[in-house]
Amino acid sequence: MKKFICEKCNYIYDPKEHNNVTFENQPEDYKCPICGAEKKSFKEIKEETIEDNNPETQKKHIPVISKSENGKTLIKIGEIDHPMEEIHYITKVQLIKNNKVIETKTLHPNEKNIVEMETIFNTEIEALAYCNLHGIWKSK
Ligand SMILES: [Fe+2]
Repeated sequence: MKKFICEKCNYIYDPKEHNNVTFENQPEDYKCPICGAEKKSFKEIKEETIEDNNPETQKKHIPVISKSENGKTLIKIGEIDHPMEEIHYITKVQLIKNNKVIETKTLHPNEKNIVEMETIFNTEIEALAYCNLHGIWKSK
């Protein structure tokens, strides 16, 4: 089931923690339980295997996680390099663990699409990549 993230405070809505009620089925006056932001402040987190997404779009956006030379967490967006141009770029990357955001880095046009985070690499870490045109993508 689809997860959503509050863009104000980074709270992640996982239907599993809400008796399997999808985010879409929450009432229009639903508010973020952490910061009180409105429902429209939430954005869908796209995961792999969404069939209507073309595989190339997925490969350009799904963050790839590895261990950097000094043991930290390295994020590359994506398997096929995502552009980092004024009109189309990755605005930020985040690391998540247990559905909580543990680190955020803001990116800018013309920077690299590979980012070394401060967090020590560990296999439980997941990553989100925010594209200014194509939404929020989660690592596998
Ligand atoms: Fe994109």
